[in-house]
Amino acid sequence: MKLKFTAIASLTIVAASTLILGSCTADADSSGLEFMPDMYRSPAIEPYVDYGEIRGRENKAVKMKLSAFTPPSYTIPYYGTDSSKVMMMLPYHRKAMLPFRETHGMYGVDLSANDEYLASAVDVNPFKLTATNSEEIFKAGKTLFASNCAHCHGDAGDGNGPMVASGAYAGVPNYKNLTITEGQMFYSIYYGKGAMGSHSSILNKKEIWTLVHYVKKFQNAEYGKFDANGAVAVPASID
Ligand code: HEC
Repeated sequence: MKLKFTAIASLTIVAASTLILGSCTADADSSGLEFMPDMYRSPAIEPYVDYGEIRGRENKAVKMKLSAFTPPSYTIPYYGTDSSKVMMMLPYHRKAMLPFRETHGMYGVDLSANDEYLASAVDVNPFKLTATNSEEIFKAGKTLFASNCAHCHGDAGDGNGPMVASGAYAGVPNYKNLTITEGQMFYSIYYGKGAMGSHSSILNKKEIWTLVHYVKKFQNAEYGKFDANGAVAVPASID
């Protein structure tokens, strides 16, 4: 009986030692032999990992390809059940113009041979200012402007942001000198114009229309002010 126990105990010790010592390697930086690597390093598809190479095994079919697929064209983000907000999220009805393919890298989008910029002059801001929401809209505009536009356009909208002041960049207009309509402002912010790039991939339509209000506020400090009765103190449109 004792002999049997000793034999089992010895065998267990030998087996455990083989397993434990077997995972050791001479390299101090190596984690040693891993018995269940999938438990430590998940092979789940992660958006920004190149799965063309997993643990030294190369898979040419997926190498250098995006593992995070972009949504199909014209996908509309879920925006609750408020129809005015949903409308704002529908794809922009104006197309980029043909030269934009080379000048602004517009690939994979519908392009038009017509002067869409000129046509956009009649578009009006669907995000209406009211006595109750204007303060909130300008506040949101200020935040968006600070992180997306001020480095070129300047905190005062005069075209003298740090990029321009440093001498690295030029040609940024003072908003006060613009004679374009709000529809054209939207078009230029959305697709880009001249040395300004497209913002369609980083800002949604509601954010751009918010910025259009904010740009118009630079042009006229009275823009979006309402009197005590909630009536517009100055015409909402100064185009
Ligand atoms: C990299 C610098 C840069 C950034 C960032 C930038 N702009 Fe511009 N913006 C310019 C330049 C340069 C022009 C002049 C383009 C032209 O007329 O050729 C311009 C022009 C404009 C115009 C006038 C467009 C027209 O049709 O004449 C508006 C409005 C405008 N920008 C708003 C914005 C807003 C809002 C943002 C932030 C989302 C922004 N810009 C971000 C450089 C920039």
